[in-house]
Amino acid sequence: MSHADGVILGIESSCDDTAAAVVDSGGRILSSVVATQTQIHAPYGGVYPEFASRAHVLSVVPTVEQALREAGVEPRDLQAIGVTRGPGLIGSLLVGLNTAAGLGMGWDVPVIGINHLRGHLRSADLEEQRVRYPAIVLLVSGGHTFLARMEDAGTIQLLGSTRDDSVGEAYDKVGRMLGLGFPGGPAVDRLAKEGTPSIPFPRPMIHEGLEFSFSGLKSAVARYLDQHPDAPKAEVAASFVDACMQILLTKCRKALKAWPSASLVVVGGVSASPQLREGAQKLCRNLRVELCLPPLRWSTDNAAMIAFATWDYVKLGHAPPPLPQTDLAITEY
Ligand code: KG4
Ligand code: ZN
Repeated sequence: MSHADGVILGIESSCDDTAAAVVDSGGRILSSVVATQTQIHAPYGGVYPEFASRAHVLSVVPTVEQALREAGVEPRDLQAIGVTRGPGLIGSLLVGLNTAAGLGMGWDVPVIGINHLRGHLRSADLEEQRVRYPAIVLLVSGGHTFLARMEDAGTIQLLGSTRDDSVGEAYDKVGRMLGLGFPGGPAVDRLAKEGTPSIPFPRPMIHEGLEFSFSGLKSAVARYLDQHPDAPKAEVAASFVDACMQILLTKCRKALKAWPSASLVVVGGVSASPQLREGAQKLCRNLRVELCLPPLRWSTDNAAMIAFATWDYVKLGHAPPPLPQTDLAITEY
């Protein structure tokens, strides 16, 4: 197969999925493979870091091989390898980083370290390049929750992030309290559709700037369940989801009013939520801005978004090293 600008291999191993993907310079995805560890962590109700690292060790090479095979490309077709350098679980990150470094050396291909959150931010442009700039971006994942403004694909200004838990973490913990298994997000959303939001859970910091706080909401759900052990679970789930949506959408509205923008972009695992997708749609219709959502399969962790973000660096001639990165630092190239 010939691709004028070559293709990029992306490798992602920051948390509990081992992923590899091959993407061309236009954002076309030639392959995307995700080896999920959900079964391994489910009995613990959360990601067990040492088990995650061990599972990555076993699956990383087969996952890369499968991604190359499905894309029909050879190592000599690779323009670069992009690998997640953080934030994430350090043992898990090191598996991807060392694998990428070894393959790059063996194949004589440059290896570029990519911030996982930058990958999420670029995920809405995969396949169709649909984002219109300037944009307000809401990133809602298991590890992070923040609002940013993007002047263009490379200029990111952080507007406000969570002071404690991420919204995905709150979803997972509430899922566990309701006995819904791991990860809690999709199950909480499904159960919420069967109930009405009748319980007035708090909306922490809803009127304060563009920062977020979800730990108080999570504790309020725990307290309520302690005091009302027989409460209908669907009512609790619906009331929790309603609080999350109101907080997230109020902050989006505030950001869109403060910075006139062509679009609202919602990315990260929680952007798979049908309630959030619907709420964001309504908000954007009212404010007459475009809503840009990644197709569902690019909302949760994958390596296509990492490979795609790597193209930004290749085009600029920048090559951050494949070393662990522990700070947020998404705003710097
Ligand atoms: O982006 P992601 O795959 O991994 C991180 O970078 O953290 O996000 C994972 C998070 C988990 O907290 C999971 O419960 C949540 O995304 N999630 C959802 C849904 N699907 C995944 N939350 C709400 N509704 C969903 N449908
Ligand atoms: Zn992620």
